[in-house]
This record gives sequence, C-alpha cells and structure tokens, in this order.
Amino acid sequence: MPNELLAAALAARNHAHAPFSKFRVGAALEDSSGRIYSGCNIENATFGLTLCAERVAVFKAVSEGARDFRRIAVAADTDTLTPPCGACRQILWEFCGDIEVLLTNPRGKSESLRLKDLFPRAFDASFL
Ligand code: THU
Repeated sequence: MPNELLAAALAARNHAHAPFSKFRVGAALEDSSGRIYSGCNIENATFGLTLCAERVAVFKAVSEGARDFRRIAVAADTDTLTPPCGACRQILWEFCGDIEVLLTNPRGKSESLRLKDLFPRAFDASFL
C-alpha cells in the first residue's frame, strides 16, 4: 500500500468543512510524477453545492496542470470503507481512467480497488 498517499488522505480529512453531515472525508490523488494533490469535502448551506473530497482533489490537480494520474486514496471514519459516490466516479473516470482507488480509515484499515470495477461500462468522451 502506498502509505504516503493514505496518510495524505487522512490528513486532508482534517480540513473537511462538513458542518451539516458531520461526515468528514479526505482524498489524495497522485500524478505520474509522484506529486500528491489533496482534497476534502466542502459542504454548503444549500446542500446541493457541496463538493466531495475526491472532486476537490481532481479539480485542484487539473487546475495546476496535472493530467496523468496513478491512484487516489479516500479516507473516512467508517468500518466499511467509504467508496467514491457516483458523481465522483464519473469525474475520476473522465480525468484518470482506470486508476487504483485506495480506501482507508483512521484505524489503519485499507483496501485497493480499480475504478473500472467500481464504475463499469462508463459513459465518456469516446461516445461523443
Ligand atoms: N462525501 C465525500 O466527500 N466523498 C465520498 O466519497 C462520499 C461522500 C461527502 C459529501 C458530503 O459532504 C458528505 O460526505 C456526506 O455525504
């Protein structure tokens, strides 16, 4: 397991702005040069404007010029490890393709998945 990436996701979780759900999530996305972009969930009083940790990490990375990604780690305080939501799976597929998705929690449990297994038969630009 890439421990540095898991640690970065757990650390990003500390910055979560989740006053409504109290459900804090952190993410850490690694690009092909090994650089790590972190993200946390950022909620909004209108609820619908909430951004998940994964999308914040992807958009931070893309906005800084990164385009080639290796893996993402997602951290939340659940015993059944928290996977990316449907919207994040779509965004991850579009920008990262079939990357490794690592899930973790603060008690050191972790799991490695492939995005293709979480998000089969995706719609993407190849259909346009
Ligand atoms: N959330 C994430 O940030 N990532 C996930 O993978 C699941 C859900 C956030 C969105 C919202 O702020 C809170 O968790 C509860 O859904």
